Amino acid sequence: MVDQANSLREIVKREKEIKENQKLKIIIEDEKERKELASRIRAVYDDTIIISMPAMDNYLIPLENLSSIKVIINGNDGDISFFAKILERKFAPVPILVITHPNHFRGINVSKNRSSRVVAITSGKGGVGKTNISVNLAIALSQMGKRIVVFDADLGLANIDVALGLKPKYSVADLIKNNKKMRDIIYDGPMGIKLIAAGSGADELLNMKDWELNRFIMGLSELEDMADIILIDTGAGISNKVTNFLFASDEIIIVTTPEPTSITDSYALIKVIVRNEKNKDIKLLINRAENEKEAQKTADKLRLVCDRFLNIKLNVIGYILEDKNISKAIKEQKALVVNYPNSEASQGIRKIAQYLVESRNQKEDNNYSNLNGFIRRLRSLFS
Ligand SMILES: Nc1ncnc2c1ncn2[C@@H]1O[C@H](COP(=O)(O)OP(=O)(O)O)[C@@H](O)[C@H]1O
Ligand SMILES: [Mg+2]
Repeated sequence: MVDQANSLREIVKREKEIKENQKLKIIIEDEKERKELASRIRAVYDDTIIISMPAMDNYLIPLENLSSIKVIINGNDGDISFFAKILERKFAPVPILVITHPNHFRGINVSKNRSSRVVAITSGKGGVGKTNISVNLAIALSQMGKRIVVFDADLGLANIDVALGLKPKYSVADLIKNNKKMRDIIYDGPMGIKLIAAGSGADELLNMKDWELNRFIMGLSELEDMADIILIDTGAGISNKVTNFLFASDEIIIVTTPEPTSITDSYALIKVIVRNEKNKDIKLLINRAENEKEAQKTADKLRLVCDRFLNIKLNVIGYILEDKNISKAIKEQKALVVNYPNSEASQGIRKIAQYLVESRNQKEDNNYSNLNGFIRRLRSLFS
């Protein structure tokens, strides 16, 4: 641990030596052999480095996604070496690898859990329960000790503030147009959750100019200190506006009901997501099932077509039963898990919250999924 801290300190001190056009070596070692590949740095970002596809004896060696490599850069003061993870491979227009920046490991190792996880909640078809689920999942997670911010990016009419009977003073529009900071526009919800309203800023969000996007993105980076998990309640469907948020998020929860139209629309959306990124972390949530058996059947249907036609394994994170208490809570403008904590739907939501937290614990070293990555992807998608 001390060694690691020292070498990280060394990297931070000599960070300037990690720059474009630097030659580097990649060492791959297993029990049997040690390979040394040659590459060159093409671009350096805060959290990633882009390098040319490594080669040996003039042959390109396309390394596996997510594999760990040792990188050695010839610095002025001797070699700088660090471990990195391969996040992405691209072959066109030129073959490159995107790897983690060593500083990024620093953030993870030194202050664990400092980076927020970004989870989008979406659906193929509207009216399937996204807003309800976002709010109640947020509260359930908050009750488990997580700091939660919910970003209401659904441009529909049934907004989170209405569902909870709250009147936010500011929205994203004030952040973009009126020089407000994120901490000014964020408002308090039940049980310690924090909320951000898209409000009338919704239209602006979709047609942002460069400087507006910059403000928005700088605002988002303020969230890093406030949230363990950022939940985004997106609109339904496959328009650009929605998919930009989806493509940028680390994880996507797709909400579907057992109705055939909801199932086919979910499949259409999954297809769009997978076409953009084959290995996206897509989680399926079944809402409004009559019973566990119906939820299972719905999940199986989608799992089967995704497996057969898209060649992906869908993660099912749980189900929520059809429950009259949901519409009671809506009429009372209170959250279901607050007013009806023992209802069947609340129990389903708590199980899903538990699953979400546990699925993360198993992937603790998954250090590229965080707010920084989200912001970087969002920037490139909108520009
Ligand atoms: N599990 C459920 N049981 C009963 N009604 C539900 C359930 N989930 C959602 N609803 C109903 O569906 C309606 C739409 O939910 P909402 O969260 O606004 O969907 P979306 O955000 O996807 O448009 C709500 O008014 C609510 O009454
Ligand atoms: Mg909604």
